[in-house]
Amino acid sequence: MLRSHSCGELRRSELGKGVSLCGWVDRVRDHKGVIFIDLRDRWGKTQVVIGPESPAATLAAARAVRPEWVINARGTVGARPEGTTNPKLSTGEIEVVCDAIVVLNEAETPVFQPGATELPGEEVRLQHRWLDLRRPAMQENMFLRSRMVKIMRDHFDALGFIDVETPMLGRSTPEGARDYLVPSRLDHGAFFALPQSPQLYKQLLMMAGFDRYVQVAKCFRDEDLRADRQPEFTQLDVEMSFVEADDVMGVIEGLVQRTAREILGLDVPLPLPRLSWDEAMERFGHDAPDLRYGLELVDLTAIAGESEFRVFRAAVESAGRVRGIRVPGAASRFSRKDLDELTSVAIEGGAKGLVWLKVEADGSLAGPVAKNITTIADALKAKLGCEPGDLALIVADSFDVTCKALHMLRKRLGATLGLYDPNAMHFSWIVDFPMFAKDTESGGWASMHHPFTAPRPSDLDLLESDPAACRAVAYDLVINGSEAGGGTIRIHDGATQEKVFKLLGITPEVARERFGFLLDALRSGAPPHGGIALGIDRWVMLFGKLDSIRDVIAFPKTQKASDLMTGAPSSVETKQLVELGVRVVVPPKPAATPKA
Ligand code: AMO
Repeated sequence: MLRSHSCGELRRSELGKGVSLCGWVDRVRDHKGVIFIDLRDRWGKTQVVIGPESPAATLAAARAVRPEWVINARGTVGARPEGTTNPKLSTGEIEVVCDAIVVLNEAETPVFQPGATELPGEEVRLQHRWLDLRRPAMQENMFLRSRMVKIMRDHFDALGFIDVETPMLGRSTPEGARDYLVPSRLDHGAFFALPQSPQLYKQLLMMAGFDRYVQVAKCFRDEDLRADRQPEFTQLDVEMSFVEADDVMGVIEGLVQRTAREILGLDVPLPLPRLSWDEAMERFGHDAPDLRYGLELVDLTAIAGESEFRVFRAAVESAGRVRGIRVPGAASRFSRKDLDELTSVAIEGGAKGLVWLKVEADGSLAGPVAKNITTIADALKAKLGCEPGDLALIVADSFDVTCKALHMLRKRLGATLGLYDPNAMHFSWIVDFPMFAKDTESGGWASMHHPFTAPRPSDLDLLESDPAACRAVAYDLVINGSEAGGGTIRIHDGATQEKVFKLLGITPEVARERFGFLLDALRSGAPPHGGIALGIDRWVMLFGKLDSIRDVIAFPKTQKASDLMTGAPSSVETKQLVELGVRVVVPPKPAATPKA
């Protein structure tokens, strides 16, 4: 055996013991002829000391080693002298008095030192991910992930769930994103799709009688990336038979409670708060609201309709909404420049502008449009609950735009005004989603979740008569304003499934061609069933209080969906393309715009 202990293991109880450690040289210091090597491995760091009395070969080796070399150090455990102990280190009370060093591998000077406090930009870290992953902070993230997944597996195992692997090469399941396609070599012109989720397979497992399924499942979605999205990510995928929404949510609530307790030492009271989709959109403008702080949206449409102000009237007359947020005590905190910035945020959210009003000490309103709304000033203040010193931010537009713009403002204000404790964890459910939303491109209906979601039994009739009013049995888990999971009760009869396909513009022929197996299975004894999928990467990011999903994935992709370390995606050899029957058409580069 190369080593007797890890670098995080030795304590005073081992004083005097002969030991052999292996690891990476984190730091070397020569202190008046005594050489100190901090030896690092996955488990921690140990100080190795080579004094002038050490054998000449050991001394020479100690002088030669450089950061990131891999060495084996042998010696005896000694107590660190008074005043040199390091309480921050688990091994901080001891050191290994070294009598032999074996260099296991040298290392070229690394592009950056994993032990350094100053880090290079993320691009360099991603290019040299193996070095980045040596950093204790990244290792902690990976351990956190591993612990959290273990808790998930234990939780579901104890509840009688069976872990079943579903295919990576399959047929596309619509989850709203583009598919990653894999060409077939044996059937030119045909493609597999990497799963956007195991949705249909898990439903079929219920039809096969497995009753309770769970899987840590890789999912692939070719969509625009954000700080909490990756093209390749992992779900904790769950499906249950003979259940209602409360049963599925109950199982997840148990997991939330257990994870919060074991990972954060937090006691989460159950049941978790629930908000209907309507209420979430009304009060917060978003279906995954951050409930760690207030700043609720207030509807001012009726009052605004009484004013002569052109912008308000236009919104009211086109069946839009006028909504605002009261920011308590913020009037003096925001300069003109800050307010211009908030206006840009609203515009980014689709609004044409932002009405801001400061409530002066005498109760009067100040702001660029204050003089246009004098007749409704008192009513506005009263509805918003404004006091002197407050700031009111108002957006007049379609419902959707007021939602998006005010949600973005709320988010910005929550962060800049420090309205929440960054360590707080807030869990909630959003329920009663609409079944459908208008697809802006086609003008037709699109599923809010996916086409296999069941309508509320009481809304079945609305499926055909008023699809917009039809609600789904759907539930999303929201943690600190992030969608951490989503699920639904499924349609379990063929006729309803066919109706929903039709509403989504999927003709019976296409439905048969793409989902014939599902329709057949639904007609061959399908139990009522439902489930959920949790975004594991997001869970770890949120429990780890991290800002980027890339920090909890060992080998993540960039915002442009590429892997900077391996250079994927990359071109392939012509021979491979010929085998696959694939011809690449590179679109011509757009012509450079001539200089004015
Ligand atoms: P949904 O599409 O809501 O549901 O996905 C479930 C959860 O997966 C996470 N997630 C992502 N995480 C990182 N990067 C992404 N690109 C990404 N996309 C989604 C989110 C999300 O809440 N089949 C259904 C589940 C079901 O109905 O059972 C599904 O996939 O945290």
